[in-house]
Amino acid sequence: MKKILSLEKILQQQGFGTRKECKYLIYHQRVLVNNILCDNPYAEFEMQNLQIKVDDIDWICQQNFLLLMNKPINYECSQKPTHYPSVMELLPQNLRQINIQTIGRLDANTSGLLLLTDNGKLNHFLTSPKHKIPRIYHATCDRKISQESIKLLQKGVLLRNEKNISKIQSVQIINAENNILEIVLNEGKYHEVRRLIAAVGNHVNELKRIAFGEFSLLQNEYKNLNEGEFVIIKDFDFEKLL
Ligand code: URA
Repeated sequence: MKKILSLEKILQQQGFGTRKECKYLIYHQRVLVNNILCDNPYAEFEMQNLQIKVDDIDWICQQNFLLLMNKPINYECSQKPTHYPSVMELLPQNLRQINIQTIGRLDANTSGLLLLTDNGKLNHFLTSPKHKIPRIYHATCDRKISQESIKLLQKGVLLRNEKNISKIQSVQIINAENNILEIVLNEGKYHEVRRLIAAVGNHVNELKRIAFGEFSLLQNEYKNLNEGEFVIIKDFDFEKLL
């Protein structure tokens, strides 16, 4: 659906400040629209994919945001972190003014694919266990991975303090020499991969999420994303899944 809005409202919705602050930026000739100076806060534009520049920030406007981040270790997914900085600190100031949340969480010592959105319905859809959205992890284990432990994981393990057996979608050794396991889960229980691997007598030294639903760090568009970097997924159809 097309959304035509005044420039001051567009700036506000993209997190550049209050209506008053955005008006100030526009009147003071600090805003370009499609590379042309616009000093009229009431000029109207279609917001989706509008190209703006505010001071030195180049920005493509979106009605809703879906971000794909390559999370580094030593960052917490919480908005109120306790030991490490929040992943929100990796976002530009204007995005931090919009109500962006992580879609599920990764532990501080887990790296890899993290999705973030300001769309509550999408967040709920992707994290709800009933939708069984696959998450692919690569776990580097401390010791050699035995075939017996693979079989146990395939059968399903009852983790402490859980009512139901953790059923995994698949598990395989992808690098025997370096003890690396690929494990695919359909849910996001607390510390699930680490607890599963501990339950079969091993220990995770390093954990990286490679994929979540249709998104993978191995896809061409994301494979060069360095840890700590993110991309805004343009024109994602927010209604598609819901
Ligand atoms: N399982 C874990 O143990 N940790 C994560 O961060 C994600 C899945």
